[in-house]
Amino acid sequence: MAHLQQIDMPSFPGRPPLSLTCIESSPFAENSYVLARTDRGTCLVFDPGFEPDAIIEVIEQGGLEPQAILLTHGHSDHIAGNAALKAKWPDLPILVGESEAVKLIDPEQNLSRGFGLELVSPPADRTLSDRERFELAGFVFEVHEIPGHSSGHVAFLVWPEEATDGPPMVFAGDILFRGSIGRTDFPDGSFPMLASGIRERLYPLPEASLVLPGHGEPTTIGHERMTNPYVTANDDGPADLN
Ligand SMILES: [Fe+2]
Repeated sequence: MAHLQQIDMPSFPGRPPLSLTCIESSPFAENSYVLARTDRGTCLVFDPGFEPDAIIEVIEQGGLEPQAILLTHGHSDHIAGNAALKAKWPDLPILVGESEAVKLIDPEQNLSRGFGLELVSPPADRTLSDRERFELAGFVFEVHEIPGHSSGHVAFLVWPEEATDGPPMVFAGDILFRGSIGRTDFPDGSFPMLASGIRERLYPLPEASLVLPGHGEPTTIGHERMTNPYVTANDDGPADLN
């Protein structure tokens, strides 16, 4: 049974009315997110997992019109809901990092085969390159490819288009968690790459930046930079999870 949580978002000057709902899905406790511009009645879906009906309910109960599916990476628990959302809204585009797109259509690489599933998603409609910036549905996006948990994993930095001077929301997938980091023991995993990506791409962000991880509770860049035991601000911290 999916667990729903409204995420409090820091307000800052110029920020339009937004809502952010986390849908934690079974069986992997994966976080899907619905980010809405309530002033426009539109929304975006991040990483739809194994309980897409709960996501559809959030969208419909909010009277929202979804504009796109954004994927941080192609592991099965983050893509399992794509097909159901596409069935409901056939024109809804799927966006994913360019190096990760193959996982959507390969049960071996998206790790579903390991669980006895042959899960595939509809293919990507658009692929995104590292450091690409684009506007979508009233938001400005910046893409940061941070391999180490999955080779083409991206973090999305997201600002409302009227407030790009404020701290971004960071949809971090399985890169950075509250007090932890993503696994690096998959075939294309690498702890050094994950750690350097977090240090170089995420820790320099404003400390108030809200981090929305793929598992567990939200956090902030400042909190993780100060306290994360796996990736410290400097590379003299304790090391590998493996
Ligand atoms: Fe993952």
